[in-house]
Amino acid sequence: MSLGASELNAILAAAEAVIRPVGHYLLAQRVQHADVETKSLNSLVSHVDKHAEAQLVQGLKNVFPEAGFLAEEGTEGAQDDARFRWVVDPLDGTTNLIHGLPVYCVSVALVDGDDPIVAVVFDPNRDECFTATKGGGAALNGRAMRCSDCSQLKDALIATGFPHWDFTRMPDYLEALTSFAKGTRGLRRMGSAAIDLAYVACGRFDAFFEYSLQPWDIAAGLLLVTEAGGDTSDFKGGSDPGALLSGTETFASAPGIAHEGLSVIRSAFG
Ligand code: IPD
Ligand code: CA
Ligand code: CA
Repeated sequence: MSLGASELNAILAAAEAVIRPVGHYLLAQRVQHADVETKSLNSLVSHVDKHAEAQLVQGLKNVFPEAGFLAEEGTEGAQDDARFRWVVDPLDGTTNLIHGLPVYCVSVALVDGDDPIVAVVFDPNRDECFTATKGGGAALNGRAMRCSDCSQLKDALIATGFPHWDFTRMPDYLEALTSFAKGTRGLRRMGSAAIDLAYVACGRFDAFFEYSLQPWDIAAGLLLVTEAGGDTSDFKGGSDPGALLSGTETFASAPGIAHEGLSVIRSAFG
């Protein structure tokens, strides 16, 4: 049984109604340094992430009760054997929120196996809701969005996430950074992979790359990009859905520079 367009649209609308209030909750929060827990090196969590996730899990259960969960803060145990799963990052950009930097979002995807089929990335600071359904296109606040028409790397603005806990590939990463710095209009590091991908999907960024992400960072963003006409792959150009969803290697780009961008990534990461 696969879900048809009208079912996906209904799930999207109901999910968005759950997600928007959680985004507004994030907006009202101030986190003191003393309230921050460290899960592992530079992986932070606060009561804000946990409360937001609990709200999302409770609401999403009603939206599509057949689905299990893969939720970052473990509100609901990971249900790897469920065909449909909600992949939930209640707060993507935790470090930004803690430091008062207004760049963070709620990121939620419904996946069928390893394929994202519904995506919502809601940025409460700009009141921007990026959405997509598989085969149904992508939208920003309800208006269709497309990746940029950038056709040469020299004209591209590239987003990335700096390594902050897994430094094993730092030399390769720095090589990629050097090539992009010399061969594009510039690089940006927003601090939220979900927003990075949403910005590729709406054409603000022309490409994004980062390694050692997690499924909840990228599940929604991957669908936004492909439904907006862009390309997603690992660093070798592979597009196995399970490998992509793992977040181990994420490259996303506007179609016109996918080839050129990927050749930089390939040669840097060998
Ligand atoms: C982080 C953000 C960041 C990326 C990190 C993620 P979190 O998610 O997406 O941009 O560089 O790797 O962990 O911890 O804020 O949900
Ligand atoms: Ca995240
Ligand atoms: Ca998070």
